[in-house]
Amino acid sequence: MVILSVESSCDETAVALTENGRRVLVDEISSQVDLHAVYGGVVPELASRSHIQAVSRLAESALAKSGIHRRDIDAVAVTAAPGLIGALLVGVNFAKAAALALGVSLVPVHHIRGHIAANYIAYPQLEPPFVCLVVSGGHSLIVDVRDYTDMRVLGSTRDDAAGECFDKTARVLGLGYPGGAKLDELALTGDPHKYELPRSRIDGYPLDMSFSGLKTAVINLVHTAEQRGEAIDKNSLAACVCRAVSETVVSRSVEAALKLGYGRLAAAGGVAANSFIRRDLTAAAGKHSLSLYLAPLRLCGDNAAMIGSQAYYEYLAGARADASLNAYASMPVDRPTFFDS
Ligand code: KG4
Ligand code: ZN
Repeated sequence: MVILSVESSCDETAVALTENGRRVLVDEISSQVDLHAVYGGVVPELASRSHIQAVSRLAESALAKSGIHRRDIDAVAVTAAPGLIGALLVGVNFAKAAALALGVSLVPVHHIRGHIAANYIAYPQLEPPFVCLVVSGGHSLIVDVRDYTDMRVLGSTRDDAAGECFDKTARVLGLGYPGGAKLDELALTGDPHKYELPRSRIDGYPLDMSFSGLKTAVINLVHTAEQRGEAIDKNSLAACVCRAVSETVVSRSVEAALKLGYGRLAAAGGVAANSFIRRDLTAAAGKHSLSLYLAPLRLCGDNAAMIGSQAYYEYLAGARADASLNAYASMPVDRPTFFDS
């Protein structure tokens, strides 16, 4: 089954063609990073406009590169939640029109479910059940993936996402936007024990997380140093933040995986590209004899192949939408409902 998938929830326009949820025929991404960098963050209106300008061209180019004929497309899939509402609507409307024109089914996909599915592409042998750590710019979750479309949230952040903490730290250190990857690079040559930073625990909810305290501590540390005229060791501060975030997410993911006893732990999302998290997960999984599935770097960030992968399983489970499909800025990963009534 060939699926044409579209992703436009934030600042990447992406179109892919995938087969049976596991094989990527083509995966096109157009990043808006340069557009938003001057503003230090994503400007929603600019993101929507840029998606409109890119999506048709990207779909044409995906089709041309894949060698797939339009009549061989069996369904059109699209990220319909969560994300920037104006940005999502561009993809949703494009997908509706494409499904109508091709005379095929339209499958709405939850963005976080897509991130999880990135691992199905990378690891053909991976099947549920498993525990998945999903860390991105807007979300930090530990998910019990009971089946391809049956999920339960085991833990989540109470405030900021891990990516928000990385991006704000990067901004205060003058690394520009989006700063997660640059912070990671800087951290590699820093001392991860130089600065003392807080870790949060939520009473009674051992798998939940909080990153706002860490973010505020970093901002205060930098501002205080500036006021005193003291120099900050940027590399070491970056390393300390990476270590704090990694310790938080890795300990909880492993705890969840051991509790559920599946023996399988996966990680996905833009922040799962972080080298501290990857190194620490690898060590912890080895120590506890868990099979670890780390989404490869190119599939960690937003892309449409992961949406096509999850769409295949949503399709098999009966998910269909029609021209009344809406986009939703927020939606729980374990109870996605794409119908207003
Ligand atoms: O999943 P994603 O591409 O978009 C969302 O759905 O949010 O994640 C983007 C986030 C940004 O916060 C970015 O700074 C962060 O992932 N990121 C990283 C790294 N690469 C990307 N954070 C830490 N270390 C990295 N190597
Ligand atoms: Zn994402």
